[in-house]
Parts: sequence; structure tokens; C-alpha cells
Amino acid sequence: MSEQNRRAVFLDEMGLGPVWSQRTGAPQLLDEPVIADDSAESGVHMPNIRVDESMSSAWTDSAVQTAATAPQAALATTSATSVTEVTQMDWAQLKSVVAACTKCDLCKSRTQTVFGVGDPKARWLFVGEGPGRNEDFQGEPFVGPAGKLLDNMFAAMALKRGDNTYIANIVKCRPTDAAKGDRPPAAEEMDACLPYLERQIALIKPTIIIALGKTAALALLKLDPATPVSSLRGTVHRHADVPVIVTYHPAYLLRKPKDKSKAWADLCLAMQSYAGSASK
Ligand code: URA
Repeated sequence: MSEQNRRAVFLDEMGLGPVWSQRTGAPQLLDEPVIADDSAESGVHMPNIRVDESMSSAWTDSAVQTAATAPQAALATTSATSVTEVTQMDWAQLKSVVAACTKCDLCKSRTQTVFGVGDPKARWLFVGEGPGRNEDFQGEPFVGPAGKLLDNMFAAMALKRGDNTYIANIVKCRPTDAAKGDRPPAAEEMDACLPYLERQIALIKPTIIIALGKTAALALLKLDPATPVSSLRGTVHRHADVPVIVTYHPAYLLRKPKDKSKAWADLCLAMQSYAGSASK
């Protein structure tokens, strides 16, 4: 199967099959398929996209899953690690400190921490909200249905999990509600965990960061929680000097497949920004 056909299959998997066609005679973004001109959702170059509040938490209005009886992780005891110490850590130290972290109450209910997965020298960093039930069991980010969609988004961009990509989350332990369902992380949980992500970013030195959903976007960009997220898509933001693109969380896209075309526009903006940054 040709590369183009393979990508068409992935776009089809994303529910974008009928929407996309290869535009001839128009500038291409890294030879990626672009939205056909006749698409109702067209607008690859959409700097002023308006969105609804659906970029809010990945877990909002999602079916609450009841967790099976998970084995409680054995919590290693470590002395409290200061933010300054974290900023000096190498990859191995950071991993082991995260695995033993007890900085917030999420450690009490986790099966294990979910550090992140991928190429430690990746140019592309994707940041989600926090592990869900599947990730808590498997110790890897985005392994459930949302992860499958994320993999398809990668494929549509000619990217692959683990190959020049890294996936991390704002928090490394699964936040659960009273019914043992997934919930978004609380402010104090994000504050406790963010130094780890900051260190991951410093070690990876990505060319571009993709914020998957509201929680990731607001935490990475250090915006007030009251910030309307509708204004965040379609713009190249910065985390320190690294470009940040905000798009929908894959779990949201599973609930609102119609917005996959907008997510594709975001990914096209990301590819455009990446191409600009990588050529400097
Ligand atoms: N949702 C996230 O935000 N992160 C994961 O790792 C899984 C689901």
C-alpha cells in the first residue's frame, strides 16, 4: 500500500475519510492531505477558529467507568523532593522519583504512576491531562480508545508513537472521583506534579508541543482556569520558547466526531509551525 493510501486509511479511521482529498496545485503541508475546498469544515489555515467549551476536560460527560478492584501500588517512601532538585535530575532519576512520588493524595489510589512514553529526544511532544483507568493499569499514557485515536492522528501526520514523538500528561497518577470513575486533576494535584513535566520538557527539548484539551493547555500556558478556551485554538502559543498548539482531547473527539476536522486543522497548523521551527 502506498504511503498516500496508508494515510487515507488512517484519516478514514479518524472519521475524516469523506472530508479529505488531496488538493492538487495548492501548497501542501509536508505533503499531508488537506481539507477539501468543498468541505463544510474546510479551513486548514484557520487562525481564528472559534470553539465551544468542549475542549474542557477529557472526562467531562464521559461515561463513568467503575474501576475494577485494582491492586494498591506499594508506595515507596522517599524524602520530599524539592522543585530545585527536580530541575537538576537526569532522565533515570526523574523516572524513579516520579514512580515513588507521594506529593499529593493521588498516590493513595493509583496502581502505578504513568511517567510518559516515547522517544526521549522526540521533536514532537503531546501532552494530555492525566491517566485514566486503562493507563493506570498499564502504566502507559493513552492506551484506551482515546489512545487508538491519538495513534491514528499520529499516522495522519506521518508520525508514530515512540518514533520522534513523546506522550506525557499533566499529572502522572490517575485522578478518580467518589465512584472510582475518572475525573480531571485538581489544581493542587497539577501544582504538585507539574515540575515533573517541566523537567521532561527540559530534557526532551521538543521542537513543538501539542496540548491535548483544556487541562493540558491551561496548565502548560499557565492561564487562569477562567480563561475561555475558545480563544486558544488556531494560534501558536509558547511554553518558554517552544511553540504550543492547542487542540481537542482525543476522548472529546470520540464523543464529538464532527470536530475531528477541526482537530485536523490544528494538526496542520502544528505541522506548519514545526516545519518553520525545524528549518531555523
Ligand atoms: N487521557 C489523558 O489525558 N491522558 C491519558 O494518558 C489517557 C487519557
